[in-house]
Parts: sequence; C-alpha cells; structure tokens
Amino acid sequence: MAFWPLDPKVVFLNHGSFGACPFPVLEEQNRLRARLEAQPIHFQLVEREALERDVRAKLGAFVGADPDDLVFVPNASTATNAVLRSLRFSAGDELLITSHGYNACNNAVRFVAERSGARVVVADVPFPLQSAEQVVRAVLACVTPRTKLAVLDHVTSPTGLVFPIGELVSSLKERGVETLVDGAHAPGMVPLDLAALGAAYYTGNLHKWVCAPKGAAFLHVRRALQPQIRPLVISHGANSPRTDRSRFQLEFDWQGTVDPTPWLCVSKALETMEKLEPGGWPALMKRNRALALRARDLLTPTRPAPDDMLGTLVAWQLDDGDALPLHDALFASGIEVPVFPWPAPPRRLIRISAQHYNEVADYERLAEALRR
Ligand SMILES: Cc1ncc(COP(=O)(O)O)c(C=O)c1O
Repeated sequence: MAFWPLDPKVVFLNHGSFGACPFPVLEEQNRLRARLEAQPIHFQLVEREALERDVRAKLGAFVGADPDDLVFVPNASTATNAVLRSLRFSAGDELLITSHGYNACNNAVRFVAERSGARVVVADVPFPLQSAEQVVRAVLACVTPRTKLAVLDHVTSPTGLVFPIGELVSSLKERGVETLVDGAHAPGMVPLDLAALGAAYYTGNLHKWVCAPKGAAFLHVRRALQPQIRPLVISHGANSPRTDRSRFQLEFDWQGTVDPTPWLCVSKALETMEKLEPGGWPALMKRNRALALRARDLLTPTRPAPDDMLGTLVAWQLDDGDALPLHDALFASGIEVPVFPWPAPPRRLIRISAQHYNEVADYERLAEALRR
C-alpha cells in the first residue's frame, strides 16, 4: 500500500469507478506541472506537442492502434459526446444501446436522438447470464434497416461484464451498422487490439485500469471517418493552416487552455504498472482477473456470468432493498464498494474490483460484513 495513496484504513473495492493513481505517477505529474508553471508559454506551445507525440506512440502500441488515429480527451464521457454530437441523425433513424449501458452515455444517446427525432432502441441483455452468445443474440435481434449506430460497452459498468465486442462489431458491420464502443473500463483490464477490432469509434479511459491521473482518456476513430468527428469545443484547430497533421488531431489537441499533464503521464503509468508483475501487463491483468474470480467464488451465491465474460470487475444481485443505506453501512465498517439500484429499485447490485493493492482478505472482510 506504500505505493498507493489510498487510505490504508479503508478496504478499497471500487477501483472501477475512478481508478487510483500510484505515487510514482503522481510524482511525474507534479514534475510536469512544475515544468509547465516554470515556462507556461514554452511548455504549452512547444514542449507539450513533442511530449504528446511520444505518449501517443506508446499508447498506440498498448492499444494496438496507429497513433495517428488516436486523440486524447479528458474522459470517456467527453469522447462519447464528441462522436454522438458530430453525427447527424434523421427522424425515424434508430440508435441501438443495451440495458447494461452506462447511464451518462445513454443520456448522450437520448439527447442526440431527441433533437433529431431518432429513436433509441434498447437491447435487453439478461443478467445473470450463461453465455456471451446471449449478448450477441439480444443486440442483433434489435437491428432493423433503420439502425444507424450501435453504442456498446466493451466492459459494462453496472454488471462488470466483458462483452464479446469483436463478434458484436463484426456482426453489426455485416448488417451495415457502425459501432461506437464505450471501452471506459477496458484499457489495462483486457488486452486491446483496436486496429483488428475495426470499430468505427472506440473510447477508453486511462484513469481507470491504466492508473493514469484523473482526466486521461482517448478516442480512436477509423481514418476514413475522422473528418466528420469534431471535438465538443471548436477552437484553433478548425482553421489551422498546418498540414503536417490531420484536422482530426489538430482540432482535438487544442480545445482551449487545459492542464495536459494527466495524459502526458500515460507513459509513466504504463511503465509503472508494467513493473508490478514480472510478466508485465499481461501478467498484471491475469493476476487481477484471477483475484476477481476468487472473490466471485467467495462472495456470490450463484455465478452471475461465465468466466470468459469476467475481467477485474464482478457484480451480482443482492436481495431487494435500498442500495444507499447498505453502501453507507459497508463504508462505515471500512469497506468502499458500490451498491446501486439496477435495473431499477428495489433490485440492487453490488460490484467488486480487483487491482494490485487488493488481496483475498479484502473480500473475506466484505463477505463477513455482508453476513453481518
Ligand atoms: C462503461 C462506462 N462508460 C463511461 C464511463 C464514464 O467515464 P468518465 O466518467 O471517465 O467519463 C464509465 C465510468 O465508470 C463507464 O463505466
């Protein structure tokens, strides 16, 4: 725990929501901020671009993407909004989401649908479930000739499921439907190869499982679609005379004055986390996943999903009741773990995370507290 700023008095079982950032990465961020404040003009206008180029190359190698197809954004919500609000829909078009989608992103889908008279179609994915095929079937059953876009989570937020995203993206593409993949939880939890996946749009957070400082995320857009995707903030990039970079990157890279240090720390986060296990990132993901599965065996009365749909999050249904008082009671007993109504009260879920600072004893404490 000396590596993490987390309060040692709290058993922290919610890495999923906002991550946690280790000290070496925060120290790098402090160094970069000191550099920025020492020479604010030179840093923002000269140094920053070269630093971003380096980080983008390392990130590209990590997520299997050409760095030219990646832009930094502060979070997955921003990226989702940028894509959705760039696209134009017409009355009668259908936008496909699932019942496991993240509320904030579903709201963005509803917003763009409402303003154009399009319709949001929700694929009802069961939970608990027995196979990834159930997800594919539920999604494809909702495709019609009017489906214009699918917005699908790679790893679902409330239910912690790793969706069969490759099969979903390719099956939808065969039916003429492009996908915006909300991969908020995926980088650092599951291996990524975005070029092979071939989704039109993919966003991932780096402040969750990559453990970069808060405010680090990326958007990947297929090259041919980049000209139509604009950032939420239109700024200098829109009429920059530069021709050495794509308009896509010119626009996303400058959206007004911000602190760019969260994404400039992504290389440091990748290197720091990689060193935690002798086998590097693959070993770290494997270790965390194995811990999540052990926690699942310890805590859940019945299996919420098959092993191949679990990463480093596990959610399961509790007896019906109020979610918040249970969360607060667990917190009062020293355990931070999300308990929330899903799909609607009085049904509720609890979700555990497994990151390097967690150990089996943490889940035993939770099991004991739940019994109490
Ligand atoms: C699936 C999913 N999408 C989007 C988000 C939003 O992430 P952010 O708040 O960084 O935009 C989350 C956060 O938990 C999420 O789980």
